[in-house]
Amino acid sequence: MSAGRVVATRAELRAALGDTAPGLVPTMGALHDGHLALIARAATENLLVVVSVFVNPTQFSDPDDFARYPRDPARDVAAAFAAGAGIVFTPEASAIYPPGAATRVEVAGPALRWEGAVRPGHFIGVATVVTILLDLVRPARSYFGEKDYQQLQVIRRLHADLALPGEIIGCPTVRDADGLALSSRNARLSPEARRAARAIPDALQAMVERAGEGETEVSALIATGEAVLRREPALAIDHLVVVDGISLEPLTTLTPGARALIAVELDGVRLIDNRELRNPRL
Ligand code: PAF
Repeated sequence: MSAGRVVATRAELRAALGDTAPGLVPTMGALHDGHLALIARAATENLLVVVSVFVNPTQFSDPDDFARYPRDPARDVAAAFAAGAGIVFTPEASAIYPPGAATRVEVAGPALRWEGAVRPGHFIGVATVVTILLDLVRPARSYFGEKDYQQLQVIRRLHADLALPGEIIGCPTVRDADGLALSSRNARLSPEARRAARAIPDALQAMVERAGEGETEVSALIATGEAVLRREPALAIDHLVVVDGISLEPLTTLTPGARALIAVELDGVRLIDNRELRNPRL
C-alpha cells in the first residue's frame, strides 16, 4: 500500500497538489472493483491520482436513497490507497457547497431523457459537483465508468461546453462472473433478486448477438432484450431503449456507436446497465 494523504478542505487539496495536474477519480465511496479498476488505470497514466469520496446530496432526488447510501470512509480510503491513489479527498458538504451556495450547472441534450426524466435534478447535481471537482483539482485526466453511460455522456458534454480542464476518460464496465455490472446498489438485493438480476446482462448480451448477426431494426432488437427480461417477473422494466451513443436520442435503425440502455426496478432497487450494439456491416 502506498503512503498517501487524506485531505478534506479546498485549501488542503490545493496545497497538496501544488502545480501538479493529477489523474482524478470522482466517487461517492462504497468502492467496489469497478472503482478500483478506474483508480488502477489512472495510476498507470498519471504520476499522482486523486480520488474524491463524496456522497453528493444534490444528485439524489429521493432523500431516503441519500440516507441509505452506503458509507464507510475508512474502508474507502484504505482501498483507494491500495489501488494507487496518492491523495484521497473526503470533503464535508460545506467544502463543496459553501454556505449560501446558489449555483447549479444544468446540461440539456443528453441529460434530458432516461435517467434524467425519471430522477428530476439528478444530472444537475452530478454536473454541479463534477464542475466543482474539475475546477478544484484541475486534473490532466478524469476517469468515469461506462456503467453509468448517460452520466458519462452528460459529463463529456459539460466538459466540452465549459472548457473544463484535462481529458475525460470512459472506462469499460466491470462485471461479476455472471455478467451483472458492479454497483454499490447490488448489495441491497436479496439473494433471490440478485439471481433475477442476471436477466439484465443476459438481455443485453442477446441484443449484442442479434445485432452482430446483422439485425439493424431497433424494434426487433428491443423485442429480443424484452423477451429475456420478461422471464423474470420480479423485474419491472423502466426503460429498454437503443440510442445514439453521444446524443442519447432514440434510434429506429442501428447506427455506429449505438447503445442499448436498460433500467429496471428489482426488490425496490433501481439497476441500470448498457452495451454497445455493433452491426458488422455498418
Ligand atoms: O458516479 C458517481 O459515483 C457520481 O455520480 C459522481 C460522478 C462521483 C458525482 O458525484
